[in-house]
Amino acid sequence: MPHMIFIESDGTRREVDAPLGLSVLEIAHKHGVDLEGACEGSLACATCHVVVDPDWAPKLTAPTEDEEDMLDLAFGLEKTSRLGCQIVMTEALDGLVVRLPRTA
Ligand code: FES
Repeated sequence: MPHMIFIESDGTRREVDAPLGLSVLEIAHKHGVDLEGACEGSLACATCHVVVDPDWAPKLTAPTEDEEDMLDLAFGLEKTSRLGCQIVMTEALDGLVVRLPRTA
């Protein structure tokens, strides 16, 4: 089973199982990681915002224009910011590291 790592806003690292085909948002919810995802993956909010580790960012498929537009609304946007509901787990992403953005 692939795994991935969430770095919570207080710096806590959480390594969790990351079943193939699930989005980062779904994986977060499965493990009680505090990522909101208000629209449940329909690209209508930016509350699933995560900051991808710079080493991993190039390995992800490029964001769609809709994702980019939504990200523009995210608080604390960074260069490697993505929407967690749009990152789907694949073998190639085994070990993925994402950070939860600061909320204040
Ligand atoms: S959950 Fe709303 S855009 Fe990802």
